[in-house]
Amino acid sequence: MHHSPQPNNESPSRDGYSWRRVCESEQVPENAAIERIVGRTVVALFRQPERIYAMDGMCSHQGGPIAQGRVEHGCVTCPWHGWQYELETGIQTINRQSLQECFDTREVDGWIEIFIGE
Ligand code: FES
Repeated sequence: MHHSPQPNNESPSRDGYSWRRVCESEQVPENAAIERIVGRTVVALFRQPERIYAMDGMCSHQGGPIAQGRVEHGCVTCPWHGWQYELETGIQTINRQSLQECFDTREVDGWIEIFIGE
């Protein structure tokens, strides 16, 4: 009797992820940020000279509005208590922990899309 292998559940957090439209490209001007709700997630979008970044919009500390944070040197600083995260990775710069989820981004036909779960 042959038993089928168990399905690979190593990455359950990736289940349900897909590209979703967030807003029109022009709604995020150069060096600006906006906040949008995508499904059940508050997302902060940042347009920087090199690319657009998307990050969980609620700070891991106490839920501060990340999209309102100051951006410098590839990092955003939460306006509430100053926790700072790398835009590309979501790593908190003091303790080097990956605290904020980041999402892949792309622009398609004048829209910004992010790769995000349900
Ligand atoms: S809520 Fe962001 S630093 Fe406290």
